[in-house]
Amino acid sequence: MRASHLEDFYSFLRFPSVSTDENYSGKLTECAHWLVEKLSGIGLRAELVPTPGHPVVWARNQHREGRRAVLIYGHYDVQPPDPLELWDSPPFEPVLKDGYVFARGATDNKGQILSHILGVQETIEQRRELPVNLHFIIEGEEEIGSGSLGNFLHQNRDALKCDTVVVSDTGMIAPRTPTLSYGLRGVAALELKVTGPKMDLHSGIYGGAVANPATALAQLLATLHDREGRVAIAGFYDRVAPLEDWERKAWQKLPISPDKEMLRETGAPALFGEAGFSTLERIWARPTAEINGIGGGYQGRGTKTVLPSYAMAKLTFRLVPDQKADEIIALAEKHLKKNLPPGVTLEKTAGHHGPWYLTDPHNRFGQAAQRALQKAFNAEVALIREGGSIPIVSDFRNILGVETLLLGLALPGCRAHSPNENFPLENLDAGIRMNKAVLEELAV
Ligand code: BES
Ligand code: ZN
Repeated sequence: MRASHLEDFYSFLRFPSVSTDENYSGKLTECAHWLVEKLSGIGLRAELVPTPGHPVVWARNQHREGRRAVLIYGHYDVQPPDPLELWDSPPFEPVLKDGYVFARGATDNKGQILSHILGVQETIEQRRELPVNLHFIIEGEEEIGSGSLGNFLHQNRDALKCDTVVVSDTGMIAPRTPTLSYGLRGVAALELKVTGPKMDLHSGIYGGAVANPATALAQLLATLHDREGRVAIAGFYDRVAPLEDWERKAWQKLPISPDKEMLRETGAPALFGEAGFSTLERIWARPTAEINGIGGGYQGRGTKTVLPSYAMAKLTFRLVPDQKADEIIALAEKHLKKNLPPGVTLEKTAGHHGPWYLTDPHNRFGQAAQRALQKAFNAEVALIREGGSIPIVSDFRNILGVETLLLGLALPGCRAHSPNENFPLENLDAGIRMNKAVLEELAV
């Protein structure tokens, strides 16, 4: 690994490019400018494209007639680093420990997209030319649903015409095991606020005579699942495509022990999920309803005898083929209205959403990607689906008319979205090799 590559990685990671929080928007723009500089520095024509949200970074090589066009997508925004006290080192001061770089965004997605940039840099240095017509599109709103990027794709549809999209923003099933993902779950967000009295009340004076919004919210949230882990919203599973036999069998043959590894990675005392499905099936092919956050009432030290005025919860649903986000949100809203305990009111605010994605890993480009992975890692390629979401991928199909190759570099222990997120330098190197191999395999 060249020292300059590591320096680039650190510089990229030092930007606290947290897209959810408006206070950081200046930092996102600085990060985008850094990328434009970097991409120009390696010989691409790079520009920063403003959007109503965070800027898009777009870079191209000199395109030539008759060559394949490839769009490499990634994101420079990151999730909030909280809870800060659970980090062993500050999230935006990268450190290298035993071959792993620790920082927010190290895996998701800065390390992965940087390995493509460095791969292109090395190819241009070594050969002066890339084998394909290339676009880099690196956005700053992936972690908040890619709200501006669809429009950008529409507006630049003709200029962005390409044969396939390459994305490294997914996982590998194990270290040194190249992995091609052919599916992603979708996601739909919904925020709830349950309100009772107009202010926090003395729980001795009023408790028992006025409904407690925190209790009501807890009761309401408890109706979302049954005891077997199934989502209890009427109609929730109506459109879920059953898992096919071949997939079920293929996943059983993957060279991993998902239950053991998941227990180790998460530290959970036991696994739990929808009855009748294996761990991988639950994550890759079944929909869920998750409570991402819950709050209300006194959260400080000691006791405060209070009956809170309101309580809130943030929910997201993970969606699978053939569920539709707006339908699921409507069903959920109906369920919540019906199950709301008496004495409180409920406010619901739908948030971002992104559709699921499913493609064929055996088509022409899928095969090219598999050859490239095999070459870069010198090991057999695993074909999997993913539980996470990359909202823009379905727009690449709908707007640009192309399929996406998901060539993940995240390891099971990377702690994306968690404290102590990390990326092994070994994978930065592997990503550089993979980038070279995939552009070569995709070239005509
Ligand atoms: N890199 C992830 C997506 C991912 C995670 C794919 C795990 C495969 C496995 C991406 O950055 C992400 O976190 N997406 C969000 C999207 C949402 C906020 C709209 C997600 O999945 O929560
Ligand atoms: Zn993410």
